[in-house]
Formats: sequence, structure tokens, C-alpha cells
Amino acid sequence: PTASASAPKPLFKVNSDLVEYTDSHILSKYAYSNTIVNKQADGSLVVEPVEQVYHFKTDRVVPRVGLMMVGWGGNNGTTLTASILAHKHDLTWRTKSGEHKANYFGSVTQASTVRLGVTPEGEDIYVPLSKMLPMVDPTDLVISGWDISGKNLGDSMNRAQVLEYDLQRQVYDEMSKMTPLPSIYYPDFIAANQSDRADNLIPGDDKRKHADLIRKDIQEFKAANNLDKVVVVWTANTERYAELIPGVNDTADNFLKAVAESHDEVAPSSIFALACIEEGVPFINGSPQNTFVPGLIELAERERAFIGGDDFKSGQTKFKSAIVDFLVNAGIKPVAITSYNHLGNNDGKNLSSHKQFRSKEISKSTVVDDMVAANDILYKPGEHPDHTVVIKYVPSVGDSKRALDEYECDIFMGGRQSISIYNICEDSFLASPLIIDLVVLGELLTRIQYKTGEMTKFSSFHSVMSLLSYMLKAPMVSPNTPVVNALGRQRSAIENIMRACVGLAPNNEMGLEHKIW
Ligand code: NAI
Repeated sequence: PTASASAPKPLFKVNSDLVEYTDSHILSKYAYSNTIVNKQADGSLVVEPVEQVYHFKTDRVVPRVGLMMVGWGGNNGTTLTASILAHKHDLTWRTKSGEHKANYFGSVTQASTVRLGVTPEGEDIYVPLSKMLPMVDPTDLVISGWDISGKNLGDSMNRAQVLEYDLQRQVYDEMSKMTPLPSIYYPDFIAANQSDRADNLIPGDDKRKHADLIRKDIQEFKAANNLDKVVVVWTANTERYAELIPGVNDTADNFLKAVAESHDEVAPSSIFALACIEEGVPFINGSPQNTFVPGLIELAERERAFIGGDDFKSGQTKFKSAIVDFLVNAGIKPVAITSYNHLGNNDGKNLSSHKQFRSKEISKSTVVDDMVAANDILYKPGEHPDHTVVIKYVPSVGDSKRALDEYECDIFMGGRQSISIYNICEDSFLASPLIIDLVVLGELLTRIQYKTGEMTKFSSFHSVMSLLSYMLKAPMVSPNTPVVNALGRQRSAIENIMRACVGLAPNNEMGLEHKIW
């Protein structure tokens, strides 16, 4: 770590034999309780409570972190950059409704709290989630990135039409000095209607060379800014799916060979991911395409590099993963989920092309599967609610996306309930805080190590950062791991793994102390 890096003073210290604070680490010993269910041949279930001891070791020194965004000049990239500058300079700006100040609302790490425990008198004590463990402050992030559009960030922010003018005005000068690095453009992967902004390109068609140039960009950014770590997030246009071809992208070696041969089915996003895996830099995919072909996942595992994805879960899908969880767990049976979207930003323009829309449609459609499969009282095996997703490009609404959802449900005694939701919001105000969370939590995951009984050395968590699922529509998980989409379960995982790292039991909501005489 650089001289600037230090261990922040914790908000609380856990007083327990199971936890030790050193200058550099928090060490915890944690008994993980699980319930193993054995299915018997006669259909009965034999249940066994098991317990395994985990040792966690969290690096307390918060590093100096750089964030590099692919698609930096887009609506999300510019909105996030401006918001961080607004925080850095403590800016205020006026709209017709009065004076505004920068905030991180919508970021689970920066703007939500965790119930730490209760006082002896029975009062619940909540602390910011960002104070559970030492974490990067987003205001300290050093930002850079790539874009196929060479416009400076000030002009790109104007083009995005997201932030209030009085704020744009105040950050314009600083942002106009920021220019995205040239990027990789394989025209076939994004919509043809994007070609008119592609004026900032890395030349040539040698894909191996492209990956090496991206690696060099990362190294230079790190050195120039004296950074300890870099995290890369793909917030560029949605690409079409890459075709999965045996011998091309099915194994790590085949993928590397395909890159060396500049195979047509290797997407720009996969080249960025490759560069990051080779650099040991976490790479998170905020768009729906299958950047992480099987060969790349295998490579990340082999290199023990951190990867996460796919597709920011910002508006409609986030709501869906909360409301369907509620309905199904309440014993109400959604039989049809019908979602209409219209939006007028450049993302919408790109998605007006069929192949790119298809990537989004796939990503949006799997979101209720685990919740439906969990309830065989409501759904027979294989039964699924009708689920339809429509997205239309309506330029005049700009970044202010409209999402209309109808949930048609079977209820008591043959009754029907129709729930209709109309969600209007600037898309980039929803996505930008998610980028912050992905970076803050992604970076944290690089500082946590674990050891179980049989292991002689501490190890990092698995390459695929499934803990980031809360922020992602189609969460990637490690092989043979069930995907969890239910929002509440995803949040519990974040909260409880953090608690385990400081030796605290999971929040279990039993509140026994309030239920006894
Ligand atoms: P945008 O279209 O404003 O920005 C994307 C940027 O990527 C553009 O500036 C474009 O020039 C650039 N780009 C395209 N290909 C590139 C490449 N190969 N290398 C570098 N730059 C490249 O889109 P926006 O609204 O910022 O969204 C970004 C992505 O995030 C989209 O794929 C979108 O589907 C995804 N997303 C956004 C959500 C939201 O805004 N609420 C939610 C979920 C996902």
C-alpha cells in the first residue's frame, strides 16, 4: 500500500475471544451453522444440523483505488464521475425546488444501515453498512476509462442530459479536461446505430494486441496515480451474445487461442475481461451480454482473478426481485408478469436493435426462477409464470425511463389479483450508485480471506463474486452454485458475511429477548 493508505478507525470493536484486531487485520473465528437435508429413497427427508468453523482474515488497510469504466463517456459513466466530483468539492446546486447537495442515495453500501444488535435495554442499534468493515470511500476513487466516443467528459455529460444544469455548469471545466482512452470497437457486437459516435478507436484487428494495450492502459493509470488497486466496470453498450462454439470459447486454452487468432466471436467486453484477469484486476460486467464465456470463467479461476456480472439491477428488475419474493413467500401465485419499458437514451437506441435487445431480454427473464422453484405448493415442477419483456426506444423521454409492470396473481379460492406498477426514473441515477457498490464490495472481497479446518493457509474467496448479486440482474455464480435472485436473500448474504468477518452471528430476526416473560 502507498503511504496514503491507512486502517480507518472502526466505528465499533467486537469484544470477544473469537475476534482479534491487529494493526493490519481483523481475524475472526466463526462457526457456520448449516442444515443438510438428505433425500431418502422413499421420499422422506433426513435432516442434519452441521457446523463448520471458518477463520476469516480481513485486511484493515483501505487501499487507494482507481475505477476504470469501459463506456466512460456514456450516461452512467458521466453521471457517476460528476457525482463523485460533487462530493469531493462539497458542491451545492439550485433547481426550481431549492438547493441540493450531493448524496449517495440508492447505494446499499453508502446509504443503508445494518442492525448491529440491541442495547441491554432492548433498543435496536443500526450502523451504516459501510462501517461494518473497512471499506473504500467512493469520494476517494480516482476515475478513468475508455470510450469509443472521443468527446471529453464535460461534453459527454451535456450529451447525456441527466444532471441538473446548475450542477453540470460547476463540474464542466474539470470534466472537460478528462478524455476517455481509445477503445476496442468490433462493430458487429453493438447496434449499427452506434457507429456515428465511434471516433476514438484502438487501431487494427489483432485481438491479442488489443488485450495487451488495455493491460498497458491499466498499468499506466495505476502508476500515474500512485494506486494500490484498480477495479474495471463495463458500463458500455450492451453487446449481442457471443456464439458459444466448441474449440473457441469453451475452455481457457481454447479462448486464449481464439484471441491469438483474432476469432470473430471474441467480443470487445471479453477482451477487456481477459486483460483484467491477466492483470489481476477485478472486472465487473454491468451489461447483459455473455462476456464471460465458459473459457473466460475457467481462465479467471485458473488465475484466481476476481470477476462479477452480469447487468446492473437498477429499476424494474430490482423491484421484480423484491415483489415476486414477497408474493411467492406470502403464498400468492403470480401467473403472469408482463413488463413494458420505454426509454430514450443511447442505451435505448442501442437496444432498439434486435440482437442487443435479445441480450437484455434473456437477462431480465431469469430473475424469478429461483423464487418460483422454491414453492411447490404454488407451482408444479416445470411450471412457470408467463413472463414477457418489451423494450421500446422513445427518444423524447431521454434518460427518464418508464417501466410498466403488471403482476397477475391467483389468490384465495379462485380469486384474481392484478397489481400494476408504473416506475419513472432517470436510469443513470439508479445505475450510478450500483457501480459504486460493485466497486466498493468488489474491492472489499479482494481483502477478505478464509480458512477452514483442513486448510493450512488462508485463501481468497472464489473468483466469481456472487456476493455482488444484489446489484446484478443475472448474477454469475461459481459452478454448481444455485443462483439467488430474491433481493432480501441477496442482501442478507452481504450483511451476514460482513458480520462473520467480525465474529458476529447472522441477524436472525428471532428477537427472542422480546418474546419471553
Ligand atoms: P450509454 O449508451 O449512455 O453509454 C455507453 C457508452 O459506451 C457510450 O458512451 C458508448 O460510446 C460506449 N461504448 C460502446 N462500445 C464501447 C466499447 N467497445 N468500448 C468503450 N466504450 C464503448 O449507456 P448507459 O445508459 O450509460 O448504460 C451503459 C450500459 O449499462 C448499457 O449496456 C446498459 O444496458 C447497462 N445498464 C444500464 C442500466 C441503467 O442505466 N439503469 C441498468 C442496467 C444495465
